[in-house]
Amino acid sequence: MFEKLEKRSNKVVLRGIHARAEIMHPATRVWRYRVHPQGYIEGEDLPEKHSFAVLDPRELPFDLDDQGEKWVCSAGDSSLHITFDGKVNLRLDGAPVARIDGVSGTLEPAEPINICTSILTLYAPPGESYMGFGEKTGPLDKRGLKFKFWNTDIAPHQPDSDPLYQSIPFFMALHAGKVWGFFLDESSRSEVDIAQSHPEKISWKVEGEGLDMYFILGDTPAEILRRYTEITGRIPIRPLWAMGLHQSRYSYESDEQVKKVISLYRKNGIPLDVVHLDIHHMEGYKVFTFHPQRFPEPLKLSRWAAEQGVKIITIMDPGLKKEPGYGPYEEAAKKKFLVQTNRGDVLQGEVWPDPAVFPDFIRPEVREWWGAQHQTMLDQEIAGFWNDMNEPSCTTVHSPHDPRKVQGKTLPDDAQHGKHYHLEVHNVYGLCMCRATFEGLLKLQPDRRPYIITRAGYAGIQRYATVWTGDNSSYWEHMELNLRMLLGLGLSGVTCVGSDIGGFLGYSSGELVTRWTWLGVFFPFMRNHSAIGTNYQEPWAFPEYLPFIKAAIELRYRLLPYIYTLMKEGTENGMPQMRAMLLHYPEHGAHFDDQFLLGENLLATPILRPFQTHRSAYFPTAGWSEFDAQTGRLYGSGYELVAAGLDRIPMFIRPGGIVPLTEVTQSLGTAYWDSIEWQVNVQAEGEYRLFEDAGDGFEPGEWTTVRIHHQNGKIKLTREGRSRKAESLMVYGHAGREPYRVELKKNWKQITLDSTDNQ
Ligand code: GLC
Repeated sequence: MFEKLEKRSNKVVLRGIHARAEIMHPATRVWRYRVHPQGYIEGEDLPEKHSFAVLDPRELPFDLDDQGEKWVCSAGDSSLHITFDGKVNLRLDGAPVARIDGVSGTLEPAEPINICTSILTLYAPPGESYMGFGEKTGPLDKRGLKFKFWNTDIAPHQPDSDPLYQSIPFFMALHAGKVWGFFLDESSRSEVDIAQSHPEKISWKVEGEGLDMYFILGDTPAEILRRYTEITGRIPIRPLWAMGLHQSRYSYESDEQVKKVISLYRKNGIPLDVVHLDIHHMEGYKVFTFHPQRFPEPLKLSRWAAEQGVKIITIMDPGLKKEPGYGPYEEAAKKKFLVQTNRGDVLQGEVWPDPAVFPDFIRPEVREWWGAQHQTMLDQEIAGFWNDMNEPSCTTVHSPHDPRKVQGKTLPDDAQHGKHYHLEVHNVYGLCMCRATFEGLLKLQPDRRPYIITRAGYAGIQRYATVWTGDNSSYWEHMELNLRMLLGLGLSGVTCVGSDIGGFLGYSSGELVTRWTWLGVFFPFMRNHSAIGTNYQEPWAFPEYLPFIKAAIELRYRLLPYIYTLMKEGTENGMPQMRAMLLHYPEHGAHFDDQFLLGENLLATPILRPFQTHRSAYFPTAGWSEFDAQTGRLYGSGYELVAAGLDRIPMFIRPGGIVPLTEVTQSLGTAYWDSIEWQVNVQAEGEYRLFEDAGDGFEPGEWTTVRIHHQNGKIKLTREGRSRKAESLMVYGHAGREPYRVELKKNWKQITLDSTDNQ
């Protein structure tokens, strides 16, 4: 495959008659191997690459050793070994970790665009599990399955639907407690076969002329995520209010209806921070407008809602209505900011607006323009933006080659985005829309944290937006399916996620909304949303379940000091808030996907079936205590039966775990908490750091550390950091006793349990 190898500063360049490749070392324990295996070869080097996922591609120094039949690139304890026939081995501390068994490619000249394919084959040793791949259905371990990467608007989706809205070509492999990660930075359409056709091979076929691969080595799953998000970026800090409850419906059709919803929340004493305005808020589905009859005074509405402690988010669709006199369309058309057909005229399709045209977010000048448009919405004090239909979804496009032919779902492969074909950038369209919004908002209001929700995305989407999983249905099966999807997204670097609580399509029952709300307590993005034509799904729509739904929402608000701290930590290490068990217990395998961890200290085992009040739960270690329990019972290790009526979710605190709770409020203010109850399982020593700040803006904030010490048969707790008005302890796992409360003095610094030494 290759005949020549050359070292150039921090890069190795390989050449053959039909192939070109480069090896780089972008971060500690990360190797990048970029190859064009076969195609139309121009010049000596690979063409320049513009990545949408990796904004700052680095090239760190490494050593190159010619070992006769192979070349070894090494840095620290990791190395990449390559032979001239194109076989690649990755090693950590000398031990083999991952292997490329081959790459190949084809080029077929065709109309309207050439068909290029590049195929990669990775070795999949028996027993290795593969997790991640972004937003995918199926179990957490994807071994034995096949997936496409092509962002698609799919409603309804089913337990085996593929592809969905997001394309994140990243996975984490786990084998007998050992891990590695793989990221294929190709945004063209691709398909992966994960040891389905061949039991020991992963093969990945990309409709493009190259394979840009990152191998990520490390000791733990958490290290793999940290390194992957070092390359593709991490979630920026989000405002506290966005972590409260969101209520939505397609659609609240007038300002009166929105006010009614907010008033009913307040009347029922249920916490609420955000209401979403879906497409009916617009005039004729024109983004950046408000309907003159339904929402005549949006600013008044935002201010009225703000008085009730509620923020307003509006939906934003990329398809612009083609209508003379509509400012955003006219400006975009005049500036030539719209996606074109391959004949050079503006591409017209149909989404909600008809005809619709599409801003070309791939180009920086278009992103800047789109971002600036949001001033119109900020003038109405709209607090956040919900970017939908950005796969992009397009129900009808008339083919330029044959007007009778209707192409559907999205734009045609040969549509033009500047110099790119749609095929190459389809999967990054949503990412670029979110980037435009994010960068625009930061410019327009530099003291506020942008808050964006998106349906479509690509690797790196976590830098700009919260991902929600689109149009689910009100099925019990979907609640479980969504749980796995959210855990899979978390294993793919996307930390801020959620799915529509109660289900979007179909008719929900009170019991389903109740159990889904209990599960939603743990979603970083907690939103109840339902579709047009379905029954209303707000908590009071099910009077006999209302107290349970309310209790679940209240638990969310109690847990916010813990959840907010997890969000902050995610900005620094890429770890999700909702964690698959394997993130902390890889030695137990990858198969637990109907239970999960919230951070490291809590284990949630939701009830996912109707009429059930019990389920089995797997405890990775011994000594877990049940949250809010009346008895001193400890659980684990292994399987145990756990119970929960509609009034609770079974949830457990790890031995040595510390979880801060606060008092329930109707809406959120700052993330400096006046009152904290530290729930502690004192079975083991432990340490916890609580983060507090203003809840918005970019001031640094403060950390408080609480520790559990075991000393000479006694248990002592200490605190360093911020003191507050009221603090207490809820002690679990102390000498076989039932859980008990201890009031703490203001400014306490340490306390020995069972003594009066509380100072
Ligand atoms: C799409 C979205 C859904 C929204 C609807 C109307 O189906 O996924 O959440 O309510 O469009 O805008």
